[in-house]
Amino acid sequence: MYRQITTLSEFVLSEEKKIKNATGNFSLLINSLDNAGRIIASHVKRAGLVDILGPVGKKNIFADEVQKLDEFADLLIAETLRSSGLVHGFASEERESFEKIKNSHGDYVVFFDPLDGSSNIDVNMSIGTIFSIYKKSNNLLQKGISQVAAGFFLYGPSVIFIYCAGGKVNGFTLDPEIGSFVLTNPNIKIPLVGPTYTINESYYSRYPEYIRKYLSHIKERSAPLTQRYAAAMVADVYRILLKGGIFLYPEDRIQKEGKLRLLYEVNPMAYIINHAGGSSFSQGSNPLEMTPTSLHMRLPIVLGSKSQVAEFEKFYHNENYGH
Ligand code: AHG
Ligand code: MN
Ligand code: MN
Repeated sequence: MYRQITTLSEFVLSEEKKIKNATGNFSLLINSLDNAGRIIASHVKRAGLVDILGPVGKKNIFADEVQKLDEFADLLIAETLRSSGLVHGFASEERESFEKIKNSHGDYVVFFDPLDGSSNIDVNMSIGTIFSIYKKSNNLLQKGISQVAAGFFLYGPSVIFIYCAGGKVNGFTLDPEIGSFVLTNPNIKIPLVGPTYTINESYYSRYPEYIRKYLSHIKERSAPLTQRYAAAMVADVYRILLKGGIFLYPEDRIQKEGKLRLLYEVNPMAYIINHAGGSSFSQGSNPLEMTPTSLHMRLPIVLGSKSQVAEFEKFYHNENYGH
């Protein structure tokens, strides 16, 4: 039976047509990232064969250099951005400094986490890629509210692509038959409440008192939340985006700033969650309003369904301000 589908490229072009005087450059940039994501997805699929094909650093039987997936993804995205001609510069979670692309007249700046959830690679669980796009500015460290778009790829049983360019959040699924992402989840709206909480609860003894109280509260009330934790922010946030609930990577006694990085992980995810009708919170502030103090700044983060984040905020304020 014939069914009308919308591919990602068709979708991006139709969005571009709605914008007066659009140059088309943004669409081309999304196109380049689309290509990079599909190439990474195909390597992820073969990752389990790497041991058979040859060790890291040696030539395999196909004469490729066998690389660790996170290095591969980082190099691929960097090269994609350099050769696009659309990007002024970029920074990656895997690199120390910002790279200004030589002789580029590009208008955009991209921050990315090439491989999120890297501890999942060896055990064949979900991993992803996260990106965040800004217009170039004299100030390299812009606030998250200035993002012009953000998105992520989730390499799971299906390959998912979620992106938002300031309006709605749309979800695409890779159709392996045609090799394109097709629109499967238009205009995603995060439910006001969801059934799950997601946190690495093994750090319980290191959490501040208000977080322990909050965890007891959500587990001990008459309709307790259930815990889900994939250990890959992409997968955990995707679940929350579709089903609702709350994601937490807070501060603890050892990781005082939490673990997740503002520019590569928190800002793009908070931008997506907020545009889908959810909210995000970092120790009394909206992370999207924070001025980054360094490229690799980390911060505690809680995000998800609006009413659940609001409930968490009460616990934070009770402990910190006594009201
Ligand atoms: P990355 O693989 O890019 O370093 O990110 C891993 C992050 C994130 O995806 C996940 O939410 C978190 O690390 C898991 O950390 P814990 O092992 O401390 O739970
Ligand atoms: Mn990550
Ligand atoms: Mn990473």
